[in-house]
Amino acid sequence: MSALVAEAVSKNFGGVQALSNVSFTVEPGERHLIIGPNGAGKTTMFNMLSGAFPVSSGRVTLFGQDITNLSANARARLGLARTFQITNLFPRLSVMENIVLALQAQSKSAFSMFSRIRADRDLFARAGTLLDEWGLSEIADHAAREISYGQQRQVDLILAMAGKPKVLLLDEPTAGLSAAEVVRVVGMVHSLPQDMTILMIEHDMDVAFDLADKITVMHQGGVIAEGTTEEIRHHPKVTEIYLGAD
Ligand SMILES: Nc1ncnc2c1ncn2[C@@H]1O[C@H](COP(=O)(O)OP(=O)(O)OP(=O)(O)O)[C@@H](O)[C@H]1O
Ligand SMILES: [Mg+2]
Repeated sequence: MSALVAEAVSKNFGGVQALSNVSFTVEPGERHLIIGPNGAGKTTMFNMLSGAFPVSSGRVTLFGQDITNLSANARARLGLARTFQITNLFPRLSVMENIVLALQAQSKSAFSMFSRIRADRDLFARAGTLLDEWGLSEIADHAAREISYGQQRQVDLILAMAGKPKVLLLDEPTAGLSAAEVVRVVGMVHSLPQDMTILMIEHDMDVAFDLADKITVMHQGGVIAEGTTEEIRHHPKVTEIYLGAD
């Protein structure tokens, strides 16, 4: 069974048709990249998949279940997580507190007063372990607004993966990063568990080609090509829009 399927998804914003009949399939464990020029509809597609906005028409399924009319929270509870194109941290809270809040939001059980104290301690311990694993412990107590933009994007990624989602949507996690930070974030994506399905929007072709099992190319609200890295690299339509855009 496929992990995530978009079937003929369309979206209008007033008179603007941002998506028209977009279909694609993401298989379990796949590293599936979405590329395409500015305004192609990539982020809008993520909003449809994650439930941020309703579709105008079409259908979305997650492991065979129709999620088209579910709220973003309900989709998250089914194992669908996402990051945003712009960092989404609470600026005044510490990195540790941001991660604890995310873990708390993902933990399903309601706590009594006393079990809550233990639960909070567990959450802080788990947040500490996560920061350790990803080599960011030294910024645990820094306010999110005080760390570098590159570090913020890494924390965004940790938040999204913290709940061990089945399907993770990443919207341009390397945008605006230095070359060294790009290498680091690509490394983080490479080291995610193999059974975690990843759908990622990426501007940098080298990054996309490095990570992808499969690539979907969007342009003007539609899919214009789909295939392996090799197929996309030599695809005449893809070469045309990228050369045309430059
Ligand atoms: N909330 C909205 N209201 C109105 N129009 C929107 C909205 N969101 C997106 N659009 C329009 O939909 C089209 C696709 O935008 P989208 O942000 O999905 O593109 P994108 O491929 O993610 O581009 P980028 O590479 O710049 O991030 C654009 O014409 C955009 O102006
Ligand atoms: Mg976008």
